[in-house]
Amino acid sequence: MSESLPPGDSATGPSIRSEGARRGRLEAAGVVKTFGANRAVDGVSFTAEAGRITGLIGPNGAGKTTLFNAIAGEYALDGGSVQLDGTEIGSLPPYRVFSHGLARTFQIPRPFAGMTVLENVMFVPERQAGERFWNSWIRPGTVAREERQNRERAREIIEFCGLSPVERQLAGSISGGQQKLVELARALMADPKVLLLDEPGAGVNPALLDTIVDRIVELNKRGLTFLIIEHNMDFIMSLCDHIVVMATGRVIAEGTPKEVIAQPQVIEAYLGGAVA
Ligand SMILES: Nc1ncnc2c1ncn2[C@@H]1O[C@H](COP(=O)(O)OP(=O)(O)OP(=O)(O)O)[C@@H](O)[C@H]1O
Ligand SMILES: [Mg+2]
Repeated sequence: MSESLPPGDSATGPSIRSEGARRGRLEAAGVVKTFGANRAVDGVSFTAEAGRITGLIGPNGAGKTTLFNAIAGEYALDGGSVQLDGTEIGSLPPYRVFSHGLARTFQIPRPFAGMTVLENVMFVPERQAGERFWNSWIRPGTVAREERQNRERAREIIEFCGLSPVERQLAGSISGGQQKLVELARALMADPKVLLLDEPGAGVNPALLDTIVDRIVELNKRGLTFLIIEHNMDFIMSLCDHIVVMATGRVIAEGTPKEVIAQPQVIEAYLGGAVA
């Protein structure tokens, strides 16, 4: 069973997903990322439409995570472009992509294991006054207020993600599924327009998977655009409006869930490679 939505959603809503926040449209055109002779992403074009949930599927090694890394600014592109609401983000470093409203989670969660769940989630915003050295001397009141607001926001998001019972535990001591939710919570701190999730369901127990699905649906209702990599077909088929299929660095099919699974090249790609 999925946990129920927090009471009075409108009360928690605006601070998790700003009221009237703009929807994000992500467009990749001819994206290339090579590793030596390996064209891991080989001219990929697709659009994640604003307010939609787009799935990105394909066999192991298809280039899905590499494409995420290229979009999120971890890798410089070897070709092509990426636009967020018409603004070119393809040449920006990760923190600038993040501040444009695109957040992502990692295939393998990367929490700060020695920090609590609350500290992990609070650690995110980069524009805190307290981090600017002079502010702590000149405007200590501002620093204290921002710290308090940051903590309140982190706790609301933690509650939204169903993590309140473990918020004081070390992030290294909670389950892999809970760590995925910590990643989601950290991404939400930035109030993104577009959220990229890399295998949010991998290694997650069914009850926690229900919670993750529930939260994605709720955030999408509030206008958040999703691009989700996942091998769990039930998850993808039930959640996504549109699916992009990759194999050997290229897009081999796209369309509605029903359309793509019926296509012979998709069946062939999956039969030809082991799917986790
Ligand atoms: N940092 C790297 N250095 C060199 N080669 C890499 C690197 N990252 C990925 N690759 C290669 O790029 C190709 C695509 O890998 P990628 O991890 O993007 O696939 P994937 O579709 O995410 O697969 P999976 O479903 O198993 O996570 C593979 O051939 C992989 O070996
Ligand atoms: Mg991957």
